[in-house]
Amino acid sequence: MYKNLLETAKKARENAYCKYSGFAVGAALLCSDGTVFSGCNIENISYSLTNCAERTAFFKAVSEGKKDFTAIAVVGAVKSEDCSEEPCYPCGACLQVMSELGGPGLDVVLLQNGEAVVMKLSELMPRAFCSEF
Ligand code: THU
Repeated sequence: MYKNLLETAKKARENAYCKYSGFAVGAALLCSDGTVFSGCNIENISYSLTNCAERTAFFKAVSEGKKDFTAIAVVGAVKSEDCSEEPCYPCGACLQVMSELGGPGLDVVLLQNGEAVVMKLSELMPRAFCSEF
């Protein structure tokens, strides 16, 4: 499941602009209408301006008018060079953006031992600060 989405995320990772950390991340966001937006991390010499791969994908999609999202795949080389061994879990800032724009039912697709692992955003962020408050 979500094999193509993971492949798109891997491809996007090739565009990562990560000259400071050397840690390349790719993401691919599946909209409910079937369209896919990819993203990579984009770093800055003023470090805090760095944008993560997941947020790049979300911001691209929202700026193109998309509102409903099904899944986001994320790949980064945590252990093995090909990204397949250990999942690259999204950072807290990206989880918050996923919560805002994707909601608790969003599928987050990660790679582990060469296989897709699908988790609901609510598993990764069980007690999100959300607009219901
Ligand atoms: N990074 C992402 O792109 N996504 C995450 O969820 C975690 C971190 C990037 C930011 C930075 O460019 C590099 O990984 C190292 O932290």
